[in-house]
Amino acid sequence: MMRPMMRLDKYLADMGEGTRQEVKKQIRRGSVTVNGETVRSPERKVCEGDLVCLEGREVSYEKTEYFMLNKPAGVVSATEDRRDRTVLDLIADRKRKDLFPVGRLDKDTEGLLLITNDGELSHRLLSPRRHVDKTYYVEVKGCATEVTKRAFLEGVNIGTAEEPLVTMPADLEILEAGQDLSRVRLTIREGKFHQVKRMFQAQDMEVLYLKRESMGPLRLDESLAPGEYRPLAEEEIKRLKEE
Ligand code: URA
Repeated sequence: MMRPMMRLDKYLADMGEGTRQEVKKQIRRGSVTVNGETVRSPERKVCEGDLVCLEGREVSYEKTEYFMLNKPAGVVSATEDRRDRTVLDLIADRKRKDLFPVGRLDKDTEGLLLITNDGELSHRLLSPRRHVDKTYYVEVKGCATEVTKRAFLEGVNIGTAEEPLVTMPADLEILEAGQDLSRVRLTIREGKFHQVKRMFQAQDMEVLYLKRESMGPLRLDESLAPGEYRPLAEEEIKRLKEE
């Protein structure tokens, strides 16, 4: 005998089929079958391996979901917001209601954002003790030079003179350096508030465009246009968990 997982109404509500009250009504109405039999009691326990159907359509249970989003500019990295669209509004195919973004990108930043309900993985990726690499493509106003490179490698003060906050060594790769505009790739190992913008500001340079390309072993799938997303592959999830 399989161990019961949870009540039928919770199962369906967790999978985004409606609120608890709504799915209870559907169950009582006779719209739900478990292993082919109509079940009218919302408190009926569902076991692993049971086949649950709502109006003849199979509803499988996902304990955890993982999506890679190419965050577009203009949406906020939050689960809800009164004014702005959130990154979760973009994940139309999600089943779970308890998804959240792993860390934050500024409203005007684009690029890789992991969206999941795996709290343990999120905690590990964001832990300040783990120093997970995050790589950004950056366009800045000004000329990035070897001096900038050395400064970032040594650490720059993004705090104040009274309360200094010196960043950990970061790697700067200069892709193109012009007088007015430079294109670079920066890898940081922390996640301080507005960190990349503040690091360049400390060097008298202004960030004009910022896009995250990778986080630990996870790389942004370049076939995703801004605003597009896809589920992570098993291999990607495995590598993230090993990080
Ligand atoms: N650093 C920033 O300044 N902004 C981001 O969105 C991410 C890193």
